[in-house]
Amino acid sequence: MKLNLALVIVVTTILGNGIEGCHCKIVQFIFGDSLSDVGNNKYLSRSLAQASLPWYGIDIGNGLPNGRFTNGRTVADIIGDKMGLPRPPAFLDPSLSEEVILESGVSYASGGGGILNETGAYFIQRFSLDKQIELFQGTQKLIRGKIGKRAAEKFFQEARYVVALGSNDFINNYLMPVYSDSWTYNDETFMDYLIGTLQRQLKLLHSLGARQLVVFGLGPMGCIPLQRVLSTTGNCREKANRLALSFNKAASKLIDDLKHLPDSSYKFGDAYDVVYNVISNPIKYGFQNADSPCCSFWNIRPALTCVPASSLCKDRSKYVFWDEYHPTDSANELIANELIKKFGLLSADQGGAPSPAPAIAPSPSLSPSPSPSPDD
Ligand SMILES: *[C@@H]1O[C@H](CO)[C@@H](O)[C@H](O)[C@H]1NC(C)=O
Repeated sequence: MKLNLALVIVVTTILGNGIEGCHCKIVQFIFGDSLSDVGNNKYLSRSLAQASLPWYGIDIGNGLPNGRFTNGRTVADIIGDKMGLPRPPAFLDPSLSEEVILESGVSYASGGGGILNETGAYFIQRFSLDKQIELFQGTQKLIRGKIGKRAAEKFFQEARYVVALGSNDFINNYLMPVYSDSWTYNDETFMDYLIGTLQRQLKLLHSLGARQLVVFGLGPMGCIPLQRVLSTTGNCREKANRLALSFNKAASKLIDDLKHLPDSSYKFGDAYDVVYNVISNPIKYGFQNADSPCCSFWNIRPALTCVPASSLCKDRSKYVFWDEYHPTDSANELIANELIKKFGLLSADQGGAPSPAPAIAPSPSLSPSPSPSPDD
């Protein structure tokens, strides 16, 4: 009897605390802005950056708004799907639990968020990258409590990380005179400040266990419909495009410099050129419109967001832009394919796992309840 009890204790200790206790899946942790948000802002009730009204989400899952700022999938959705990784739920999703995190990871992405804390302040509520990393540290604590320190360490080191922010630091900060950064800095000093901040954040993520991490660069943000409307000619805003290119160059060099971080694979990739080519010659790439939003409020421009009273374009797959800011599902697919090429990504099991049907979104309320832990 005594011996049995001792045995039980030994077994429990091993299963509870050792790496053996972690039948861990490879999951993703996603840090981003509205281009990657899968629902966090939906729960930030005071945030003005919202995708909670029709027609957002019309081409994914049940077609109802799900928090994504597009008609279908985000770029991160598509890349994750192609790698055979589960889609991470939003951090603020009420169904998030330790079991869900161990199965699917977490997305901290938040519309309006930037690399800098002050970015997007006029949206009132959003998670900046610093805040997202702070929330990730909370997630780590939770998982350590659940599966033990060593198993958690392995889980977080095997996970895949996506960092995809930066547009808002320009569009909703530096390029807007209402933000003090726009008159405190010039192009050069702002870039140093931004890249310096990103460097600190990426090093912090490494110290927290991130080993396989990809950073998305910026697209030609001077060509989003909103920026065109703001220019008198209707052409792309060259200044915004120039800043995107110089951010990409500096971020790419930063990631190169971070190669010395031990045991890590940090990669940078952008789809600037491909998107610019599509915008310059949409027909060649199978698009019909590359300068105005598919969802628009008659001809009142800029329409700040897509609303139920808006009208939609006839064929959503032929538009590059969904609203004033965000690409459509089909443009996102093109961007995702380019990034996969740039990153040289393979599927999670390196064997080319079949990707799940792209049209089906994980709906928290419909997803199967978490399977019982093997220790039960
Ligand atoms: C940004 O905000 C976070 C809290 O979310 C805080 O911990 C951090 O110190 C802030 N960073 C700067 C540079 O002020």
